[in-house]
Amino acid sequence: CRCQSINTDKRKSNRNLLDNASNLLTDLLSGGSIGSMPIAEGAVSHLFGRPLFFSLYDWFLEHGAVYKLAFGPKAFVVVSDPIVARHILRENAFSYDKAVLADILEPIMGKGLIPADLDTWKQRRRVIARAFHNSYLEAMFNKLLEGEGYDGPNSIELDLEAEFSSLALDIIGIGVFNYDFGSVTKESPVIKAVYGTLFEAEHRSTFYIPYWKIPLARWIIPRQRKFQDDLKVINTCLDGLIRNAKESRQIRYYFDFMETDVEKLQQRDYLNLKDASLLRFLVDVRGADVDDRQLRDDLMTMLIAGHETTAAVLTWAVFLLAQNPNKMKKAQAEVDLVLGTGRPTFESLKELQYIRLIVVEALRLYSQPPLLIRRSLKSDVLPGGHKGDKDGYAIPAGTDVFISVYNLHRSPYFWDRPHDFEPERFLVQNKNEEIEGWGGLDPSRSPGALYPNEVISDFAFLPFGGGPRKCVGDQFALMECTVALTLLLQNFDVELNRWN
Ligand code: HEM
Repeated sequence: CRCQSINTDKRKSNRNLLDNASNLLTDLLSGGSIGSMPIAEGAVSHLFGRPLFFSLYDWFLEHGAVYKLAFGPKAFVVVSDPIVARHILRENAFSYDKAVLADILEPIMGKGLIPADLDTWKQRRRVIARAFHNSYLEAMFNKLLEGEGYDGPNSIELDLEAEFSSLALDIIGIGVFNYDFGSVTKESPVIKAVYGTLFEAEHRSTFYIPYWKIPLARWIIPRQRKFQDDLKVINTCLDGLIRNAKESRQIRYYFDFMETDVEKLQQRDYLNLKDASLLRFLVDVRGADVDDRQLRDDLMTMLIAGHETTAAVLTWAVFLLAQNPNKMKKAQAEVDLVLGTGRPTFESLKELQYIRLIVVEALRLYSQPPLLIRRSLKSDVLPGGHKGDKDGYAIPAGTDVFISVYNLHRSPYFWDRPHDFEPERFLVQNKNEEIEGWGGLDPSRSPGALYPNEVISDFAFLPFGGGPRKCVGDQFALMECTVALTLLLQNFDVELNRWN
């Protein structure tokens, strides 16, 4: 997510001297334990000119799957190994938090899932994860296909990145709170405010000095004033939607009494609901327990987390297809075979296997975010990884860790021709016997999954993270991308008309 993909440059600024000193001290007191890791020395020049994750990749090839990156007095541990990623994200997940990412997002998302404290997170995660049940996905699928079929010109030149951004915003608006932004066709103050907020989240994640924390900055600095205004516009809109949802709650009060039976009720009713949004569900199930502020934070988090990410995958998928016309033809042949000129159905998703794999392969090559950020809350011992010290590495509390999803997804140890666009690769079971402790690609680990995931790949492929903090909207996003790509390829060939 744009909101999650924080540029590592930012990290430098977010430490104060005390922080640095205490980290160094812990390092020393712990016997300099992370010192035994291979060390990559980063010159400040690496922070400019090209994205940091390219340098992280070069250092990964040079120093191995777990290394320490030192910029002056500050050190980060960079992880490019599935066994270590699995340890941090799943096996020892609650020994880590989201560190500076939570700081940056808190002013926007409040106590939404991403920045929330552990207690709030536990409570809200359970409720929100349940909201993404299968009937919800099917209802949303039907909603996506409600409009007329395409009836425009045969050939059209478009900035697809911008188009996908609008499309993803409209879809997330309907899916999360049944609000039609209509951004594909119009501009509105709310849309402007959403883009303004996303822009500010990006700015904050890439700017060295957190000047917005300076007292009065929000009133004096024009861009910070604008940010506050944008937040106000979105919050007013969300508050109105929450009010409406709560006022109309009584019509579905039976959820309160039959919570254990919610799944059954959904099966029966969901597809017929006029408003099947997450907000509706969140208000109807346990809605009375939750205050409006928390609901607003939940909605805002999903709006921000689910928008740019999805737009980025679609953009990269089309970019890759335009460069690989044979794969595009193969995908179109599948669409013709499965659908002809008809519209996709929820059931036909199962048959659109190649389209699904294209989405997944785009996520592998261009994961968004390219890094997952964590900080250890207590001392821990990281496994050495397949190319590291067998004894593993002790790390002190307060260690900043980057799990480089980009490196994992392009690791030559786990993928053949890792930089090539090869959707078919997920059809081949793959187990590198030389890699102890890694289970290889094995679909039987996640029976029934329509899309390859971190479980099937034993953490070598984790576009949605993994473990308890895994993305809640993964299936929604995958379905959305598959439908959008199917409809696009059913109507068009795609070509790049400008290639720099
Ligand atoms: C978390 C990626 C779409 C809501 C995450 C994480 C990743 C991710 C990697 C985990 C971050 C971490 O561990 O630090 C993506 C991608 C998407 C996508 C690549 C699209 C292709 C969505 C959608 C929604 C959503 C559509 C909601 C409708 C969230 C939320 C979290 C999250 C709420 C935080 C979960 C938690 O901490 O419990 N996403 N996401 N995402 N995502 Fe997504």
